[in-house]
Amino acid sequence: MSEETVRRVVEGYTSGAVPDYQMSALLMAVFIRGMSYEETLDLTRTMAESGAQYSFPECLDKHSTGGVGDKISLTSLPIAAACGAPVAKLSGRGLGTTGGTIDKLHSIPGFSFDLSEERMRRQVKEIGLAITEAGDLAPADKAIYALRDTTGTVDSLPLIGSSIVSKKAATGAGYLLYDVKSGSGAFMKNADEARELAELLVRLSKSLGVEATALITAMDEPLGSAVGNALEIRESVRFLRGDPSPADLSEKSRTVAARLLKLKGINDPENTVERAIFSGAAYETFLRFVSAQGGDVRALEHTPVSSKVREVAAPQTGYVARFGALGIGHAALLLGAGRQQKGDKVDPGAGVEVLLKTGDKVEEGQPIARLYGERNVEKAAQIVLESLEISNAPVGRPPVILRSL
Ligand code: URA
Repeated sequence: MSEETVRRVVEGYTSGAVPDYQMSALLMAVFIRGMSYEETLDLTRTMAESGAQYSFPECLDKHSTGGVGDKISLTSLPIAAACGAPVAKLSGRGLGTTGGTIDKLHSIPGFSFDLSEERMRRQVKEIGLAITEAGDLAPADKAIYALRDTTGTVDSLPLIGSSIVSKKAATGAGYLLYDVKSGSGAFMKNADEARELAELLVRLSKSLGVEATALITAMDEPLGSAVGNALEIRESVRFLRGDPSPADLSEKSRTVAARLLKLKGINDPENTVERAIFSGAAYETFLRFVSAQGGDVRALEHTPVSSKVREVAAPQTGYVARFGALGIGHAALLLGAGRQQKGDKVDPGAGVEVLLKTGDKVEEGQPIARLYGERNVEKAAQIVLESLEISNAPVGRPPVILRSL
């Protein structure tokens, strides 16, 4: 397709001139045949230009392709901002078993994403961190994504790549880090698929004039302990305050923050990150950011997690060989932490806290997880139990960061 054809189709579909049945036929053709790089870039650019376009060339953004318990935006971005690297971020809602930063922050009473470009600019200047949702950015992607969802054409590399990069390009940050997840709890189930997507995201971004880099990271078990909106806010706050935190969360938050600083050309990124956490500057930045977007910071002291708690016990003694992210994500979804159908109401206090990680020793009867919430509790408990694989022999800890592009 020529650039002119791509533009005509995308503009026509967004305005209603191209009907669903014609667009569905094109999406299915792309799903089956793929697209050339030039076509993918034209599609990305056209979708980016389909609505409002912000401009934050001095700012960073980061994108995660979605995981279970992935709260790294909440931890790494306040660190980067506290280190003098301004962040203007676009976030999304949860999709299936993968959580979304918007749903997590919405669990803080009063928190709002209703930011104009001007208000975002002021907040970036004053605090160094602002997060918006797509709103009127890249409306063509919103329309096409909804059609992909109903026609079984989501899972296509050029369509995923153009969808993600178009929204980021419309938000206008000049520096982007992609965190592409690989594993059972991610869209990309293996490292080769994840590398292909990471390379495409970086290439498309660079073609559109954005400095970009990518990490490929593990998503076979939940990240940290908490899975669910208020639960993840609580775990992030504890990490930023310097409280003891799960090792994988701590390592990944630091690595991502340091990579963001490196992308911006800031010297000595690792030590700069340590100082921002140790001094309390990162936590202070998080509090100011929450307050600036209308959130009640006093609520962070007693995060509104559900008071209905059910513990699940280990069925036998041994070593944890796997505590599968997909199963835990599914259990959290059933408890109400995500949406099974578009339009479902999320329970912000619902979710799962995993009390064991791969490699840990476990005794029969020991609590392995806590379930929060009132929906589908017995079914969720059964899925959590099925997600746990116990080995008689010791098991090593898996790596957190798999590859860096
Ligand atoms: N996330 C997006 O924004 N778009 C896709 O196509 C898939 C995941």
